[in-house]
Amino acid sequence: MNLNQQFELVRQSPTVSLSDRINALKASGRQLIGLQVGDPDFNTHPSIINVALKAMQDGLTHYGPAIGTMELRQAIAAKLLRDEGVTYDPASEIMVTHGGIHAYYLAMQAILNPGDDILLPDPSWGTHENMGTMLRGNVIRVPAPAENGFIPHFDSWLNALTPKSKAIVLNYPSNPTGANPSREYLQKLQDFAKEHKLWIISDEVYGSMYYGERPTSAAAFDGAKERTLIVNSLSKSYAMTGWRVGFLAAPKAVIENALKAGQNSITCVAPFIQKAAAFALTDPVIQDVTANMRAAYARRRDLVIHLSHELESEKVLVIPPQGAFYFFLDFRPLKMASIEICERILEEAGVGLIPGSAFGAEGEGFVRMTIASSDEDVEAGFRKIVEWAEGQ
Ligand SMILES: Cc1ncc(COP(=O)(O)O)c(C=O)c1O
Repeated sequence: MNLNQQFELVRQSPTVSLSDRINALKASGRQLIGLQVGDPDFNTHPSIINVALKAMQDGLTHYGPAIGTMELRQAIAAKLLRDEGVTYDPASEIMVTHGGIHAYYLAMQAILNPGDDILLPDPSWGTHENMGTMLRGNVIRVPAPAENGFIPHFDSWLNALTPKSKAIVLNYPSNPTGANPSREYLQKLQDFAKEHKLWIISDEVYGSMYYGERPTSAAAFDGAKERTLIVNSLSKSYAMTGWRVGFLAAPKAVIENALKAGQNSITCVAPFIQKAAAFALTDPVIQDVTANMRAAYARRRDLVIHLSHELESEKVLVIPPQGAFYFFLDFRPLKMASIEICERILEEAGVGLIPGSAFGAEGEGFVRMTIASSDEDVEAGFRKIVEWAEGQ
């Protein structure tokens, strides 16, 4: 068939077949512990839902501005100033998007020409690579080895650089590793980007989930704002994954291009959803709700670390994440492909996980386990995983 050939280059994640298998097992009545999802186990706070309901009743059911409502753009600017210490002009430097994934899509659309090189750490979230490829970029993976805290050695950035390099994609705290580099490292990366005239696309959707120092936004360095495109959303931080609302914060010229792409594809994000998002970003009680979710993830993180000390497995090694809500468990001692590990743990121990190879070649030998699940499931699931590994 005469199709867009570019899609032949887009890797269909092995996790699709795995999640089909998980669903089939569930449908057959099998009791499973699902530690594969990247979706908070908390529901959206009822007061956010009430704002959306009222907005619908008040007639906010028509088209809205493609760039987003001024009310929400102002709320985003206030959030960026409050949390990241960076000033953005809501009139020209912020666009409301259909979640973080759409903000990333618009960011790439706005700056990429076919054949441009994009530098992307490996491992990283599959969409980061797939989107670059879909948009006819050339994605160059930069190894981020476990031995270096899942952060690329600086030489690796230099080695990956070509005359066609256009952008660096960052995602800290990271999905799947939870890595979060030091300020010094990020400053060095900004200097590198400046020297080589690279854009930095920074996916900060896990920015509110950290277990030590609060992450510093990529835009919060001297002179960084002019070359940084911030991708963020309310999905993870406010438990609003199904609402599909996020934002792109970037220089005016980038937003102008993103606006053309958004206007001609989705028209706008539903205005009643934008009303609720503005409330979520600014209401003081809701900020406490986010802090409470962070505390719950921190508690589960401690639970896994504590269990790993208790169980003393030499087959599953635990690297404590610094942020986000995942553990990237190190199964390399088993010398088994991560897809096989996940398939067997699913069938034999009844726990759903994601193979590390779904995040890039450097993820091979690792498995992603979420802690966005109840304390009971995290504890029981982790015990089953270790028990399975010890039986190998
Ligand atoms: C790193 C990263 N970025 C972006 C997203 C997309 O989130 P959303 O589109 O729901 O904001 C995800 C979702 O899992 C993610 O892990």
